Amino acid sequence: MPPANCSALISSAWNATKDNSTVGVCISLTNFCMPSLPAVIAIDAPAIIKLDAATKSFTPRGGQAFHALRGISLCVRDGDFVAVLGKSGSGKSTLLNLIAGIDRASLGDVHAAGAELNRLSENELALWRGRNVGVVFQFFQLLPTLTIEENIMLAMDFVGKVPASKRRSRAQELLRLVGLSDQAPKLPSTLSGGQQQRAAIARALANDPPIILADEPTGNLDSETAGAVTMLFQTLTEQGKTLLIVTHDDNLARKAHRVIQLKDGIIIADDANISSRP
Ligand SMILES: Nc1ncnc2c1ncn2[C@@H]1O[C@H](COP(=O)(O)OP(=O)(O)OP(=O)(O)O)[C@@H](O)[C@H]1O
Ligand SMILES: [Mg+2]
Repeated sequence: MPPANCSALISSAWNATKDNSTVGVCISLTNFCMPSLPAVIAIDAPAIIKLDAATKSFTPRGGQAFHALRGISLCVRDGDFVAVLGKSGSGKSTLLNLIAGIDRASLGDVHAAGAELNRLSENELALWRGRNVGVVFQFFQLLPTLTIEENIMLAMDFVGKVPASKRRSRAQELLRLVGLSDQAPKLPSTLSGGQQQRAAIARALANDPPIILADEPTGNLDSETAGAVTMLFQTLTEQGKTLLIVTHDDNLARKAHRVIQLKDGIIIADDANISSRP
Protein backbone atom coordinates (compact mmCIF):
# COMPACT_ATOMS: atom_id res chain seq x y z
CA MET A 1 0.00 0.00 0.00
CA PRO A 2 1.37 3.47 -0.80
CA PRO A 3 1.86 5.61 2.32
CA ALA A 4 -0.78 8.29 2.88
CA ASN A 5 1.73 11.09 2.29
CA CYS A 6 2.84 9.60 -1.04
CA SER A 7 2.10 12.66 -3.20
CA ALA A 8 3.82 14.95 -0.68
CA LEU A 9 6.89 12.70 -0.85
CA ILE A 10 6.93 12.83 -4.63
CA SER A 11 6.52 16.58 -4.72
CA SER A 12 9.33 17.16 -2.19
CA ALA A 13 11.63 14.81 -4.14
CA TRP A 14 10.68 16.62 -7.34
CA ASN A 15 11.41 20.02 -5.78
CA ALA A 16 14.73 18.78 -4.41
CA THR A 17 15.87 17.92 -7.92
CA LYS A 18 14.59 21.14 -9.46
CA ASP A 19 17.20 23.65 -10.50
CA ASN A 20 18.22 25.27 -13.74
CA SER A 21 20.38 22.35 -14.76
CA THR A 22 17.44 19.95 -14.82
CA VAL A 23 15.07 22.07 -16.91
CA GLY A 24 16.19 20.32 -20.08
CA VAL A 25 15.70 16.74 -18.92
CA CYS A 26 12.92 14.57 -17.53
CA ILE A 27 13.45 13.23 -14.03
CA SER A 28 11.72 10.00 -13.23
CA LEU A 29 10.78 9.24 -9.65
CA THR A 30 10.47 5.53 -9.14
CA ASN A 31 9.19 3.60 -6.15
CA PHE A 32 8.60 6.66 -4.00
CA CYS A 33 5.30 5.24 -2.93
CA MET A 34 6.48 1.66 -2.48
CA PRO A 35 8.07 1.41 0.98
CA SER A 36 9.25 -2.13 0.24
CA LEU A 37 11.38 -1.00 -2.73
CA PRO A 38 14.33 1.43 -2.88
CA ALA A 39 13.31 4.87 -4.13
CA VAL A 40 15.15 6.01 -7.24
CA ILE A 41 15.51 9.44 -8.79
CA ALA A 42 16.69 9.11 -12.37
CA ILE A 43 17.55 11.96 -14.72
CA ASP A 44 16.88 10.10 -17.88
CA ALA A 45 16.06 11.78 -21.14
CA PRO A 46 15.96 15.18 -22.85
CA ALA A 47 12.69 16.97 -22.11
CA ILE A 48 10.83 18.75 -24.86
CA ILE A 49 7.82 19.75 -22.74
CA LYS A 50 7.99 20.48 -19.04
CA LEU A 51 5.32 21.93 -16.77
CA ASP A 52 6.17 22.82 -13.17
CA ALA A 53 3.16 23.25 -10.89
CA ALA A 54 1.17 24.86 -13.70
CA THR A 55 -2.22 26.22 -12.72
CA LYS A 56 -4.80 27.78 -15.01
CA SER A 57 -7.61 29.75 -13.44
CA PHE A 58 -10.51 31.52 -15.06
CA THR A 59 -12.20 34.31 -13.15
CA PRO A 60 -15.54 35.53 -14.47
CA ARG A 61 -16.16 39.23 -13.93
CA GLY A 62 -17.34 39.70 -10.37
CA GLY A 63 -17.22 35.94 -9.76
CA GLN A 64 -14.96 33.41 -8.10
CA ALA A 65 -11.89 31.91 -9.76
CA PHE A 66 -12.35 28.49 -11.32
CA HIS A 67 -9.19 26.39 -11.46
CA ALA A 68 -9.25 24.39 -14.71
CA LEU A 69 -5.72 23.03 -14.06
CA ARG A 70 -4.38 22.73 -10.55
CA GLY A 71 -0.63 22.52 -10.14
CA ILE A 72 0.23 20.21 -13.03
CA SER A 73 3.83 18.94 -13.16
CA LEU A 74 4.58 16.98 -16.28
CA CYS A 75 7.70 16.16 -18.21
CA VAL A 76 7.48 14.81 -21.76
CA ARG A 77 10.58 13.32 -23.33
CA ASP A 78 11.66 14.24 -26.81
CA GLY A 79 10.06 11.77 -29.22
CA ASP A 80 7.36 10.51 -26.84
CA PHE A 81 3.78 9.77 -27.90
CA VAL A 82 1.51 10.73 -25.00
CA ALA A 83 -2.23 10.14 -24.91
CA VAL A 84 -4.25 12.40 -22.60
CA LEU A 85 -7.49 10.96 -21.28
CA GLY A 86 -10.16 12.35 -18.99
CA LYS A 87 -13.83 13.17 -18.78
CA SER A 88 -15.38 16.25 -20.32
CA GLY A 89 -14.32 19.33 -18.36
CA SER A 90 -11.28 17.66 -16.76
CA GLY A 91 -8.88 20.19 -18.32
CA LYS A 92 -7.52 18.38 -21.40
CA SER A 93 -7.94 21.23 -23.91
CA THR A 94 -6.72 23.72 -21.31
CA LEU A 95 -3.55 21.65 -20.88
CA LEU A 96 -2.95 21.61 -24.64
CA ASN A 97 -3.54 25.36 -24.81
CA LEU A 98 -0.88 26.00 -22.15
CA ILE A 99 1.68 23.81 -23.93
CA ALA A 100 0.90 25.49 -27.26
CA GLY A 101 1.25 28.92 -25.67
CA ILE A 102 -2.31 29.77 -26.69
CA ASP A 103 -3.13 30.42 -23.03
CA ARG A 104 -0.70 31.37 -20.31
CA ALA A 105 -0.41 29.59 -16.97
CA SER A 106 -1.86 31.62 -14.09
CA LEU A 107 0.84 30.14 -11.81
CA GLY A 108 3.82 27.89 -12.42
CA ASP A 109 6.07 27.44 -15.44
CA VAL A 110 5.67 25.93 -18.88
CA HIS A 111 8.74 25.10 -20.95
CA ALA A 112 8.45 23.69 -24.45
CA ALA A 113 10.85 23.28 -27.37
CA GLY A 114 13.60 25.24 -25.62
CA ALA A 115 11.48 28.21 -24.51
CA GLU A 116 10.05 29.33 -21.19
CA LEU A 117 6.66 30.37 -22.48
CA ASN A 118 5.76 32.84 -19.73
CA ARG A 119 8.81 34.92 -20.66
CA LEU A 120 7.81 35.37 -24.32
CA SER A 121 5.82 38.36 -25.57
CA GLU A 122 2.64 37.64 -27.56
CA ASN A 123 4.49 38.17 -30.86
CA GLU A 124 7.41 35.97 -29.82
CA LEU A 125 4.98 33.33 -28.65
CA ALA A 126 3.09 33.31 -31.96
CA LEU A 127 6.33 32.88 -33.92
CA TRP A 128 7.63 30.25 -31.50
CA ARG A 129 4.35 28.34 -31.89
CA GLY A 130 4.41 28.53 -35.67
CA ARG A 131 7.91 27.05 -35.78
CA ASN A 132 7.64 24.46 -33.04
CA VAL A 133 4.08 23.30 -32.54
CA GLY A 134 1.43 21.92 -34.86
CA VAL A 135 -1.99 22.16 -33.22
CA VAL A 136 -5.05 20.19 -34.28
CA PHE A 137 -7.86 22.01 -32.49
CA GLN A 138 -10.90 20.24 -31.10
CA PHE A 139 -13.14 22.41 -33.29
CA PHE A 140 -10.63 22.65 -36.20
CA GLN A 141 -10.45 26.47 -36.38
CA LEU A 142 -9.86 26.62 -40.10
CA LEU A 143 -10.19 30.16 -41.46
CA PRO A 144 -13.63 30.22 -43.12
CA THR A 145 -12.82 32.65 -45.95
CA LEU A 146 -9.78 30.71 -47.20
CA THR A 147 -9.82 27.47 -49.14
CA ILE A 148 -8.45 24.33 -47.53
CA GLU A 149 -5.21 24.67 -49.51
CA GLU A 150 -4.89 28.36 -48.59
CA ASN A 151 -5.40 27.54 -44.90
CA ILE A 152 -2.36 25.26 -45.04
CA MET A 153 -0.29 27.72 -47.07
CA LEU A 154 -1.10 30.54 -44.64
CA ALA A 155 0.52 28.56 -41.80
CA MET A 156 3.68 28.35 -43.93
CA ASP A 157 3.51 32.04 -44.96
CA PHE A 158 3.42 33.07 -41.30
CA VAL A 159 6.53 31.15 -40.29
CA GLY A 160 8.59 31.48 -43.49
CA LYS A 161 10.42 28.20 -42.98
CA VAL A 162 9.20 26.57 -46.20
CA PRO A 163 10.36 28.59 -49.25
CA ALA A 164 7.48 30.50 -50.90
CA SER A 165 7.94 28.60 -54.17
CA LYS A 166 7.38 25.27 -52.43
CA ARG A 167 4.37 26.13 -50.25
CA ARG A 168 1.61 25.18 -52.69
CA SER A 169 3.18 21.84 -53.56
CA ARG A 170 3.77 21.08 -49.87
CA ALA A 171 0.11 21.92 -49.10
CA GLN A 172 -0.98 19.56 -51.89
CA GLU A 173 1.34 16.82 -50.61
CA LEU A 174 -0.08 17.15 -47.07
CA LEU A 175 -3.64 17.07 -48.39
CA ARG A 176 -2.78 13.90 -50.30
CA LEU A 177 -1.38 12.42 -47.06
CA VAL A 178 -4.73 12.91 -45.31
CA GLY A 179 -6.78 11.83 -48.34
CA LEU A 180 -8.13 15.27 -49.24
CA SER A 181 -6.48 16.10 -52.58
CA ASP A 182 -9.84 16.67 -54.23
CA GLN A 183 -10.99 19.13 -51.53
CA ALA A 184 -8.08 21.60 -51.86
CA PRO A 185 -10.00 24.42 -53.63
CA LYS A 186 -13.06 24.26 -51.35
CA LEU A 187 -13.98 26.45 -48.40
CA PRO A 188 -14.04 24.74 -44.98
CA SER A 189 -17.82 25.21 -44.59
CA THR A 190 -18.43 23.01 -47.64
CA LEU A 191 -16.54 20.06 -46.11
CA SER A 192 -17.84 17.45 -43.70
CA GLY A 193 -16.66 17.48 -40.06
CA GLY A 194 -14.31 14.59 -40.71
CA GLN A 195 -12.84 16.27 -43.79
CA GLN A 196 -12.27 19.49 -41.84
CA GLN A 197 -10.61 17.47 -39.11
CA ARG A 198 -8.19 15.94 -41.62
CA ALA A 199 -7.52 19.37 -43.15
CA ALA A 200 -6.65 20.61 -39.65
CA ILE A 201 -4.18 17.72 -39.30
CA ALA A 202 -2.58 18.65 -42.63
CA ARG A 203 -2.28 22.27 -41.49
CA ALA A 204 -0.66 21.20 -38.20
CA LEU A 205 2.08 19.45 -40.19
CA ALA A 206 2.69 22.40 -42.56
CA ASN A 207 5.89 23.66 -40.93
CA ASP A 208 7.18 20.21 -39.97
CA PRO A 209 7.12 21.09 -36.24
CA PRO A 210 8.85 18.93 -33.60
CA ILE A 211 5.74 18.93 -31.36
CA ILE A 212 2.23 17.93 -32.48
CA LEU A 213 -0.66 18.66 -30.12
CA ALA A 214 -4.00 17.22 -31.18
CA ASP A 215 -7.37 17.52 -29.47
CA GLU A 216 -9.65 14.60 -30.31
CA PRO A 217 -8.18 14.26 -33.83
CA THR A 218 -10.26 11.19 -34.66
CA GLY A 219 -13.43 12.39 -32.92
CA ASN A 220 -15.32 13.02 -36.16
CA LEU A 221 -13.95 10.19 -38.25
CA ASP A 222 -15.39 6.82 -39.24
CA SER A 223 -13.36 3.85 -38.03
CA GLU A 224 -11.53 3.34 -41.33
CA THR A 225 -10.42 6.98 -41.62
CA ALA A 226 -9.59 7.06 -37.89
CA GLY A 227 -7.36 4.04 -38.46
CA ALA A 228 -5.55 5.86 -41.28
CA VAL A 229 -5.04 8.93 -39.07
CA THR A 230 -3.77 6.71 -36.24
CA MET A 231 -1.23 5.22 -38.65
CA LEU A 232 -0.18 8.72 -39.68
CA PHE A 233 0.48 9.61 -36.03
CA GLN A 234 2.51 6.44 -35.63
CA THR A 235 4.61 7.38 -38.66
CA LEU A 236 5.20 10.82 -37.13
CA THR A 237 6.46 9.20 -33.92
CA GLU A 238 8.79 7.04 -35.97
CA GLN A 239 10.12 10.26 -37.54
CA GLY A 240 11.01 11.51 -34.04
CA LYS A 241 8.12 13.92 -33.50
CA THR A 242 6.71 14.41 -30.00
CA LEU A 243 2.95 13.86 -29.86
CA LEU A 244 0.51 14.81 -27.14
CA ILE A 245 -2.96 13.72 -28.14
CA VAL A 246 -6.24 14.12 -26.31
CA THR A 247 -8.45 11.22 -27.24
CA HIS A 248 -11.35 9.01 -26.31
CA ASP A 249 -10.37 6.62 -29.09
CA ASP A 250 -9.04 3.39 -27.53
CA ASN A 251 -7.34 2.33 -30.76
CA LEU A 252 -5.39 5.59 -30.90
CA ALA A 253 -4.57 5.61 -27.15
CA ARG A 254 -3.26 2.05 -27.44
CA LYS A 255 -0.54 3.26 -29.81
CA ALA A 256 0.78 5.81 -27.29
CA HIS A 257 3.96 5.19 -25.28
CA ARG A 258 2.43 6.85 -22.28
CA VAL A 259 -1.11 7.55 -21.10
CA ILE A 260 -1.94 10.29 -18.63
CA GLN A 261 -5.34 10.80 -17.14
CA LEU A 262 -6.78 14.08 -15.93
CA LYS A 263 -9.56 14.61 -13.44
CA ASP A 264 -10.73 18.00 -12.22
CA GLY A 265 -7.52 19.67 -13.39
CA ILE A 266 -5.13 17.18 -11.79
CA ILE A 267 -3.16 14.26 -13.23
CA ILE A 268 -4.59 11.23 -11.46
CA ALA A 269 -2.76 8.53 -13.42
CA ASP A 270 0.43 8.50 -15.45
CA ASP A 271 1.32 5.28 -17.17
CA ALA A 272 4.77 6.45 -18.18
CA ASN A 273 6.62 3.23 -18.67
CA ILE A 274 4.70 1.38 -21.31
CA SER A 275 6.09 0.90 -24.76
CA SER A 276 3.82 0.87 -27.78
CA ARG A 277 1.23 -1.84 -27.27
CA PRO A 278 -0.35 -4.02 -29.92
N1 LIG B 1 -12.12 30.43 -21.22
C1 LIG B 1 -12.70 29.82 -20.19
N2 LIG B 1 -13.37 30.51 -19.25
C2 LIG B 1 -13.92 29.91 -18.20
N3 LIG B 1 -13.86 28.57 -17.96
C3 LIG B 1 -13.20 27.84 -18.85
C4 LIG B 1 -12.58 28.40 -20.01
N4 LIG B 1 -11.98 27.41 -20.71
C5 LIG B 1 -12.22 26.27 -20.03
N5 LIG B 1 -12.95 26.53 -18.92
C6 LIG B 1 -13.41 25.54 -17.93
O1 LIG B 1 -12.29 24.73 -17.57
C7 LIG B 1 -12.69 23.38 -17.43
C8 LIG B 1 -11.82 22.52 -18.33
O2 LIG B 1 -12.14 22.82 -19.66
P1 LIG B 1 -11.48 22.04 -20.89
O3 LIG B 1 -12.01 22.66 -22.12
O4 LIG B 1 -10.03 22.01 -20.69
O5 LIG B 1 -12.08 20.59 -20.66
P2 LIG B 1 -11.87 19.27 -21.55
O6 LIG B 1 -11.30 18.22 -20.66
O7 LIG B 1 -11.12 19.60 -22.78
O8 LIG B 1 -13.37 18.89 -21.89
P3 LIG B 1 -14.01 18.24 -23.25
O9 LIG B 1 -13.68 16.77 -23.23
O10 LIG B 1 -15.47 18.48 -23.09
O11 LIG B 1 -13.43 18.94 -24.44
C9 LIG B 1 -14.17 23.32 -17.77
O12 LIG B 1 -14.91 23.30 -16.56
C10 LIG B 1 -14.42 24.58 -18.54
O13 LIG B 1 -15.72 25.05 -18.34
MG1 LIG C 1 -11.64 19.74 -24.79
